Amino acid sequence: MKKAMKLTVSGINLVRWGAIAGLGLFSLACGQAEAPATSNVSANTTQTSVEENVAAESVHPGEQIYQNYCFSCHTPGLSGAPKTGDAEAWAPRIAKGPDLLLSTTIEGIPPAMPPRGMCFDCSDKDLAAAIDYMVQKSQ
Ligand code: HEC
Repeated sequence: MKKAMKLTVSGINLVRWGAIAGLGLFSLACGQAEAPATSNVSANTTQTSVEENVAAESVHPGEQIYQNYCFSCHTPGLSGAPKTGDAEAWAPRIAKGPDLLLSTTIEGIPPAMPPRGMCFDCSDKDLAAAIDYMVQKSQ
């Protein structure tokens, strides 16, 4: 965005210079050269943010937390952890409903499931998202 501003400012300066020097043709050519360059920059910026939004939407909100905190036990099924993707292991847990799963996650299940899945920076909402991610992968 700053770059686009600079382009516009230098464009105006050049146009002024052209007018002052009395070089009508120069300023016209310059104005034409600047205008598409500036609009290309803003068009690219818009396109990039649209692509970022699409990418952000297709990623589950709990996936990052899962990968950082829950993956180590729930992907290999360590110490009896229900494996992510194992519908049979998850069915009785899913049957408890998301609220109960959230509260057992917050409290932990001794001895092997640590409180908050060891993510002490996670809010309850973050944990619910990570659980939802696992549940969605395990149905
Ligand atoms: C150190 C290993 C470990 C980590 C890390 C871990 N879990 Fe677990 N988790 C377990 C084990 C083991 C169980 C099974 C406990 C049992 O039923 O005895 C379990 C069970 C669960 C259950 C089922 C609870 C229920 O009521 O049946 C949920 C939901 C869960 N974990 C979510 C998470 C989330 C979310 C994270 C990451 C934020 C996480 N876990 C991280 C080991 C882990």
